[in-house]
Amino acid sequence: MFTIYGHRGLPSKAPENTLASFKAASEVEGARWLELDVGITKDQQLVIIHDDYLDRTTNKTGEVTQLNYAEMKDTSAGLWYGSEFKEEKLPTFEQIIRLANDYQMNLNVELKGVTGPRGTELSHSMVTQVREQLQALDDGLQVVISSFNLPLLKMSEERMPEYTRAVLFKNAYFKEDFRTVMDFCNSKIVNIENAKLTESKVKMIKEAGYELNVWTVNKDTRANQLANWGVDGIFTDKIDQLIHLQQREDN
Ligand code: G3P
Ligand code: MG
Repeated sequence: MFTIYGHRGLPSKAPENTLASFKAASEVEGARWLELDVGITKDQQLVIIHDDYLDRTTNKTGEVTQLNYAEMKDTSAGLWYGSEFKEEKLPTFEQIIRLANDYQMNLNVELKGVTGPRGTELSHSMVTQVREQLQALDDGLQVVISSFNLPLLKMSEERMPEYTRAVLFKNAYFKEDFRTVMDFCNSKIVNIENAKLTESKVKMIKEAGYELNVWTVNKDTRANQLANWGVDGIFTDKIDQLIHLQQREDN
């Protein structure tokens, strides 16, 4: 079955990685999976944000890992998108788990590589907290831990082997040695960039026995092409428009 993941929620309708965005994606009929980006603050609070810096998606500036949570918790994470979203805050991971339980959504938890001089310490803290907080997720809901950052994936394998891992690749960094990377992380799921992805590369990855998901796909013609090539799922900003493709059973 071709799976459609709500990439950062439903960012074509609400500001990415906010509760409004995740709720909007969860309310799409047939939607089962949310993708979210997990970062960590200087004082070790997990926050849901894509960038290393607050600047693009909040009304505050600065590097997430160099600021305490108290310094960002009241900033708007929605005003940049539209005044109707000005009350949106940076979600915590706990809030995401509550929302996933409320809507019975599965989670693709992307761990963002930690910037700054205390990256190793904060990475350990991130993985430990993700594991602890996931204990509150309802039984039966599925979790995939994904990252571009191999140390975070390795730590995840050690601390929470019960959750499967996906390795994120940009096409430019996808080389013939990818199987070694996959083996190192004990992962069977490749999550690869859409741009410049070719049918021959899809076939090579699938023939090597991996699950293959593609990000970020917002056009239904491209999504359909990827499904026909044998891709297992896509991450999209428009889950409301592409969810109908999930019903395909011919992949
Ligand atoms: O997890 C898929 C995708 O979100 C990876 O890239 O930069 O959107 O987090 P990015
Ligand atoms: Mg992501």
